[in-house]
Amino acid sequence: MNILIIGGGGREHALAWKIAQSPQLEKLFIAPGNAGTAKLGTNIPVKVDDFEGIKKLVLQEKINLVVVGPEAPLVAGIVDYFLTDPDLKYVPVIGPSKSGAKLEGSKDFAKMFMHKYKIPTATFSTFIDYSVDDGKAHLATLEPPYVLKADGLAAGKGVLIIDDLEEAQRQLEEMLHGKFGEASRKVVVEEFLRGIELSVFIITDGDGYVILPSAKDYKRIGEGDTGPNTGGMGAVSPVPFADEAFLKKVEDRVVKPTITGLKREGIRYRGFLYLGLMNRDGDPYVVEYNVRMGDPEGEVVLPRIKTDFVELLKAIAEGRLSDVKVEFDPRFVTTVILASGGYPGSYEKGKEITGLENAGVGMGAGKSVETGSAAKDTVDWVVFHSGTRAEGDKILTNGGRVLAVSGYGETMKEALKRSYELAEKIEFEGKYYRRDIGFDL
Ligand code: AMP
Ligand code: GLY
Repeated sequence: MNILIIGGGGREHALAWKIAQSPQLEKLFIAPGNAGTAKLGTNIPVKVDDFEGIKKLVLQEKINLVVVGPEAPLVAGIVDYFLTDPDLKYVPVIGPSKSGAKLEGSKDFAKMFMHKYKIPTATFSTFIDYSVDDGKAHLATLEPPYVLKADGLAAGKGVLIIDDLEEAQRQLEEMLHGKFGEASRKVVVEEFLRGIELSVFIITDGDGYVILPSAKDYKRIGEGDTGPNTGGMGAVSPVPFADEAFLKKVEDRVVKPTITGLKREGIRYRGFLYLGLMNRDGDPYVVEYNVRMGDPEGEVVLPRIKTDFVELLKAIAEGRLSDVKVEFDPRFVTTVILASGGYPGSYEKGKEITGLENAGVGMGAGKSVETGSAAKDTVDWVVFHSGTRAEGDKILTNGGRVLAVSGYGETMKEALKRSYELAEKIEFEGKYYRRDIGFDL
């Protein structure tokens, strides 16, 4: 099969690495990809929202399957674009339709959906421009902290958690007046949930589903979960407190009613679904849905899938996921993000990365996986590229999050030791990483 991955971060490198291990793969393309994916397939400089460009590529390279990494093209309707194009409609795309992608693209839609299908989540109210006064009055009836969420996609910045009532009222007004552009013309105000966060991922063909390993990511830039939010500075899988009893509750109270809801609403959904959860005294509450794999969660969850990944993707596309048995690596996987100094504020790009060879990781994948085809059991670590690009035989930084250093271990401690040993060996000017991933587990 010829497969195209849309995206160019660590998650897409992890997807590429899994796909490249499959004997079913003929040619792999990644658009736009990074220096890591270039070692596993062919990078094509087409942007993730350039549907015409993607169409040309799919037809030219006789692509049989497309895997979409990030949310933006899904929310923009790439699946519907394929389904309604006479030349593309036989090429399956892993991801939800535009209506399904609203679970991530509209917080209001997601909340209404959860309410309708009795999926546990924080209580909420939604406000728009002309109800700003109602919104302020509503805030005054709540206990702090106040949670304000821009309805639409806001590059991970659209959620504000504020302790002071007047500040929350001011921010609500600013949001409704366009603080986050169109994304915050509608704002969801919700109850603050206390507890400990984790993520559970599923793949579904809209009917059958498979629950993938749980993960926890570390979103703040600073150690001890301090400072501004980032895309994620590290992750751990599995989450020790997500035991069988808790996961059973997730399946019964969240996964099953979500699948039922999608079916009842007539929403086509064939792809990944990310459940952002709060564990409140042992009960799961949905904080958010994302309609894709997480990043950096993908760099700890995907390495734990032992089943032929292309077979799994095909089962999703062909609607026969219920028949597939999926095997997971019981070991822990942890990842530590090496970021550019200054991130998530301004930072410089183009710094040469050294030490990938010293760490024995070649250009991105560990040991015998350098070619992407080794037996998974022999792998103790993998370095995934996030924001990198190749220039001649050099690898340069090309983003805020640069590399995701994933280690396996029988215990979380052992996995983290591997991640951190490698993180030390890789160098670039301004390298920053959190040294406390997993500290709260
Ligand atoms: P979201 O984009 O909805 O995931 O929100 C971003 C982050 O804000 C989440 O990962 C949580 O840490 C936090 N958050 C969102 N909603 C709530 C809530 N209702 N209660 C507590 N924390 C929340
Ligand atoms: N790491 C958070 C996300 O992928 O949304």
